[in-house]
Amino acid sequence: MKYMTSDEIREAFLSFFESKGHKRLPSASLIPDDPQLMFTVAGMVPFKPIFWGKVEPVYTRVTTCQKCVRTNDIENVGRTPRHHTFFEMLGNFSFGDYFKKEAIEWAWEFVTKVLEMPEEKLWVTIYEYDDEAFEIWKSIGVPEHKIIRMGKEDNFWGPAGPTGPCGPCSEIHYDTGLEVPVKDGGIPTPANTDGRFIEIWNLVFTEFYQDEEGNLHPLPRKNIDTGAGLERISAMMQGVLWNFDTDLFAPIIERIQNVLNVKYKEDPKKDVSIRVIADHVRAVTFMIADGVLPSNEGRGYVLRRVLRRALRHGVLLGAKEPFLYKIVESVVQKMGHVYPEIVEKRSFVENIVKGEELKFIMNLSRGLELVQKIIETKGKITAEDAFKLYDTYGFPIDILRDIAQENNYELDEKGFEAYLQQQRERSRKAQGEVEFAQKTGYETLEIETVFVGYETMESEGTVVKIRKDNEFVDNIESPEPVQCELVLDVTPFYAEKGGQVSDKGTITWEGGKFEVEYVYNPVEGIIVHRGKLTGKLSVGQKVFSKVDPIRKWTMRNHTATHLLHAALRKVLGTHVRQAGSLVEPERLRFDFTHYQALTKEQITAIEDLVNEVILSAIPVVTEVKSYDEAVKEGAMALFEEKYGDYVRVVKVGNFSEELCGGTHVKNTGEIGLFKIVSESAVSAGVRRIEAITGFNSLAYVRKQDEILENLKDKLEAPINELVMKVEKLIEERKSLERELANLKKKLVNPESVASNVKSWNNVNYVSAVFEEIDPEVLKELTDEVSERIKGVVLLISRLGEKVVFTVKVPKELTNEYHAGNIAKAVAKILGGGGGGSPTFAQAGGKLPQSIPEALEMFEKIIRKEVQ
Ligand code: ALA
Repeated sequence: MKYMTSDEIREAFLSFFESKGHKRLPSASLIPDDPQLMFTVAGMVPFKPIFWGKVEPVYTRVTTCQKCVRTNDIENVGRTPRHHTFFEMLGNFSFGDYFKKEAIEWAWEFVTKVLEMPEEKLWVTIYEYDDEAFEIWKSIGVPEHKIIRMGKEDNFWGPAGPTGPCGPCSEIHYDTGLEVPVKDGGIPTPANTDGRFIEIWNLVFTEFYQDEEGNLHPLPRKNIDTGAGLERISAMMQGVLWNFDTDLFAPIIERIQNVLNVKYKEDPKKDVSIRVIADHVRAVTFMIADGVLPSNEGRGYVLRRVLRRALRHGVLLGAKEPFLYKIVESVVQKMGHVYPEIVEKRSFVENIVKGEELKFIMNLSRGLELVQKIIETKGKITAEDAFKLYDTYGFPIDILRDIAQENNYELDEKGFEAYLQQQRERSRKAQGEVEFAQKTGYETLEIETVFVGYETMESEGTVVKIRKDNEFVDNIESPEPVQCELVLDVTPFYAEKGGQVSDKGTITWEGGKFEVEYVYNPVEGIIVHRGKLTGKLSVGQKVFSKVDPIRKWTMRNHTATHLLHAALRKVLGTHVRQAGSLVEPERLRFDFTHYQALTKEQITAIEDLVNEVILSAIPVVTEVKSYDEAVKEGAMALFEEKYGDYVRVVKVGNFSEELCGGTHVKNTGEIGLFKIVSESAVSAGVRRIEAITGFNSLAYVRKQDEILENLKDKLEAPINELVMKVEKLIEERKSLERELANLKKKLVNPESVASNVKSWNNVNYVSAVFEEIDPEVLKELTDEVSERIKGVVLLISRLGEKVVFTVKVPKELTNEYHAGNIAKAVAKILGGGGGGSPTFAQAGGKLPQSIPEALEMFEKIIRKEVQ
């Protein structure tokens, strides 16, 4: 069979389908715009709304090579020939255009004519009741015994996520000829063997929609969704069984060997580790490039797990310091020409990976110390300990297993797994599924809301749906405000999306009123108003919608967010990428990728740039164009829109151009003063700016003014002299403090303290207790008293809940007594610590109630009653 590189296969596939009238589109982000999914798991994910019939396609035939991530089988990665976390899926899609016949015929033509796979090596499977597919395969020459009927488990695909498009499928399998056991003793087929026949292409006949209960409903159009794993086809075309032995992985494995100084294919155990790293470094590179950052929840948690799994295998191979970031380069070199984002983000990815490695390696050694302690006290590690170590320090279970072996005890891995499972559940729930559940129920409705909110803030409309307590009703009546949801045919209310908060406002009609509290899009095309209804309302009623004019404030902030984004890229560099945003009436919040805190100068430069655009009163133009066209023109695509769809581009002169569905001012002049009010860190490599515009800036300036006016009145000085005045006050305060100290000292008379002198064995000594005498004064007093009595002095001062004291031993007595040691003994009683030189010591404590005992101790020390 002919040999083809992965690049050749990818290109051959896409150009083959171009020749069949398909539009070639770039891969979408790994982060889908889909609340049901954490990652893009198949080529069809970006097109889900089109299959579903919610969005009209621009092209009815599309072909892509889609980057995908699946982590459900992560434990198998590295140990089997074909499990991956990251992979590329080749696909051709028909949106209500061609169906089974063409899909099957073209797949066969590509496999046998372009790839030139020998027909005798090919088998197909079909869904057991799909006679139509059977006939088509037969008609193109596939022998009947090689068309295997299989059940729903194997030959029915989808949905991706809990609900959505799905359908029966048909797979092409390649016979590797590998000798494996045949379950029923017959001739080997894809149905009765494992590991011999490799599924290389799945053709899905997407004609159903699956609801939450698992019921299937026919879709408005019949579609085609196919998926062929590039890694597998490459393996077959290069005559190898393991995907890891293809040209896709060769340079990565080469780099791992160099960086970690290991050899592939010498030790099967090490090979697993090498393959894990080779797979995971691809996933990590692409995830970070698409904006996922390591964290403890959701996508960030998955990334962290993949990353740490790679690091753990690095440690098993002997890595003592960060190494993974050095391997990123080989991924970029191999795949950068197909996915330019990894070239652009390369140093960002390397920095994030290295940061995580540094942290993990530190945690690993901290974890090892803990393990040691646990073993010393308990003699073993319980499942709970193991999980805590894993969860808090990312401590690898493999290493715990090794330690358990060395120490001859059993590690309760089952218990550990149970904890892990609970953790996974929590993580899964955290990923917006809860949120999603609250917003479901609208998927099957054949309704659509026309959004007129770009042009107007009020409009007439008709009630299409009323929903109360998750039930749709035709009428609702309540004299008291009652919580429910309304859908109208036309609305000016903006649904929460793309960081912009939803509108608030009122919907009124004769006989009632609805306070709009929250507006959302449960599915493309439907806008739901959530809020409180008073009065009587029926489906079909004409109503009047009025958006709260505060929206204007939100619009200012949204346009300002675009200006800020553009200014950040101009001032800091094009590595800056949006990592999140919140646009509300009061302020805007913008998170972006950058390493360091911004300097004062940078913040000023950004403010200047944005305000210059505002003061130039530039029109804000929105245009609707095809995704391709927009991206070609350089619009910043945030992957919020689906392609195949028309996208909305918001443009401010030549300064900013973004794909955005939000509401904006018509001219930058409407924004008013733009002021950054805070700049802070969100996580490693991500900064956050909060800023204000319009009336908020005015309020801010007024507030500052008020503070100044207040100060001016209180300090009785003109504003430009305030700083001087405060400096003067501080100076004065210092001098007053000095004066006060002197006065206090005068109040305590060294003479009267000295007059209480006692004597033991010709040694003079004295002690005294004061209230609220500062340590400085106490010290001076000690010197003076000691001078007078020519003996040992202990002076104690009670300062609120605290005690300070000084001890002085004259030089002549240092053979006998040591001031530092006396202080130590006294401090111990007073609940503190301290010490000092043989002649002088100062210390403190926090037990004023123990002062009498402290005095007693002093006496005993002088009288040598204690050592
Ligand atoms: N969506 C189909 C799959 O992932 C093609 O297998």
